[in-house]
Amino acid sequence: MSETLTKAAARNIFYGGTAFFFVVFVALTAHSVTRANAIAAANPVTPSVAAGKHVWEKHSCINCHTLIGEGAYYAPELANVWVRFGGKEDANGAREALKAWMKGQPSGIEGRRQMPQFNLSEKELDDLVEFFKWTSEINTQNWPPKVSG
Ligand code: HEC
Repeated sequence: MSETLTKAAARNIFYGGTAFFFVVFVALTAHSVTRANAIAAANPVTPSVAAGKHVWEKHSCINCHTLIGEGAYYAPELANVWVRFGGKEDANGAREALKAWMKGQPSGIEGRRQMPQFNLSEKELDDLVEFFKWTSEINTQNWPPKVSG
């Protein structure tokens, strides 16, 4: 057997390698698309969720809060606020409590960080709550680890 790599062998390695990794690439792409579709189908973005995200962005809530760890650390993490308010056990109760909380700010309690009053409409508040509920259902592999934040 020859010790050197012949031109033909080099060409075969090149074409063979290219074909092999192209197949791997196509398979991984198909896998990602299937997974992404399954995740989206399990937790669909309704018009209300999308509207809630717009309210969230319009008022820059992220300037004080984090959402799945992203944002500012002045105020509580909100990706799990739906769970924290008991949404899993009592969805209506959590919805009303969250809306009442946002309507009731600032609390004016001495020594406590304050959240501004945004004067949101009922629809904006409902949409925000839908957005929080949706966010809480993203599979984050149990992050954040504590429901408190
Ligand atoms: C200027 C900073 C600031 C901004 C901007 C802000 N918040 Fe807050 N938010 C706070 C603080 C501080 C608290 C905690 C207050 C407390 O516990 O008394 C809080 C608490 C909350 C809570 C309750 C969290 C819990 O676990 O009890 C919700 C819900 C909330 N904010 C929603 C929002 C939404 C929605 C927006 C945007 C429309 C927003 N916040 C913008 C400062 C802010």
